[in-house]
Amino acid sequence: MSLGTVVMTGAAGLVGSALRAPLRAEVERLVLVDRAPLTAESPVEVVRQVDLSSAEVVAEVVEGADAVIHLAGVADEAPLPELLHGNVLGTHHVLEAARRTGVGRVVLAGSNRLTGCYPTSETVSPEMPPRPDGMYGVSKVAVEALARLYADKFGLRVVCLRIGSLEDEPNEVRHLATWLSPRDCAGIVLASLTAPEAGFAVHYAVSANSRRFWKLPDEIGYTPQDDAERYADRFPEADAFFAGPGPQGGDYAAADYTLRHITS
Ligand SMILES: NC(=O)c1ccc[n+]([C@@H]2O[C@H](COP(=O)([O-])OP(=O)(O)OC[C@H]3O[C@@H](n4cnc5c(N)ncnc54)[C@H](O)[C@@H]3O)[C@@H](O)[C@H]2O)c1
Repeated sequence: MSLGTVVMTGAAGLVGSALRAPLRAEVERLVLVDRAPLTAESPVEVVRQVDLSSAEVVAEVVEGADAVIHLAGVADEAPLPELLHGNVLGTHHVLEAARRTGVGRVVLAGSNRLTGCYPTSETVSPEMPPRPDGMYGVSKVAVEALARLYADKFGLRVVCLRIGSLEDEPNEVRHLATWLSPRDCAGIVLASLTAPEAGFAVHYAVSANSRRFWKLPDEIGYTPQDDAERYADRFPEADAFFAGPGPQGGDYAAADYTLRHITS
C-alpha cells in the first residue's frame, strides 16, 4: 500500500539523506523540504527550498500531504534562543500546519539527549521522566510536549522518535549502546508512518544493541535488526565505560558542553 504524499523536512541533513531512498519505494510523492538546496533524484521526488521560520510557508508546503516527517532543526547543543526558534517554533509551525490542513500523521524527530542524564546502568523507557543532558535536550522535551498537546487537544496522530546515533557504523564507545543503523532507521520511520496505534506515541529509535540504554521500539511493528556489539573489539575501553557511573549522554552531558553556549 502506498503511503501517498509524504513531506520530509530537513531532507538535506544526515537523517533525511538516509531516508530518501527507502521512502521513495513506498510513496507516490516525496516532498523534500530544506532551506539548503536539494536536487530531485527520482520522478517521485519534489524539492522545496524553504525556511520553516514562516508559519505561512510551512502551511503551504504541508497542504495535501498524507504524512509529514519533521526532521529539520538544530541537531546539537546551541544557545537556547536558537534551539527555541529552530526546534520548538519550527515544530509548532509543522504541527499547526498539519492540524489546519488535515494531515493524517506526523513523525517527529526527538532525541535520546532528552534522557541523557540517566546513568548508563539504567534502562530507560519513554514513560520515564525526562532528564535532558543540555539545552538541546530541553528543546526536544518541548517538542514532545507540543506533540502531546496537538494529539490530546486536536486529535492529531503523532509519533515522536527519540533518535539514537545514526551512523553507518559505530565510531565511538558510546555508540555500542546508542547506534542506529541506516537499515533500522528506515525500518523504524516506515513503521511509524504505518503503525495502527492511537493518537500519540514516543519511541527510542535505536538498533538492537546488546548494551543499549533504552527500551526497543517493539510496539510499532518493526524489530530492529542490527547490533553494535559486532564492532565492540574496536573499543577496548568499552567495559570500563559501561561499568562506570557516568551519564548516558557521555561527553554531551558534561557541564562545559552546555556552558560554552551560555555567554551572558
Ligand atoms: N543524526 C542523529 O543521529 C540524530 C540523533 C538524535 C536526534 N536527531 C534529530 O533528527 C533530526 C535530523 O538530524 P540530522 O542529524 O539529520 O541533522 P542535520 O543538521 O544533519 O540536518 C538538519 C537539516 O535541517 C535543515 N534545517 C534546519 N533548520 C531549518 C529551517 N528553519 N528551515 C528549513 N530547514 C532547516 C538543515 O538545513 C539541515 O539540512 C534533528 O531534529 C535532530 O535533532 C538526529
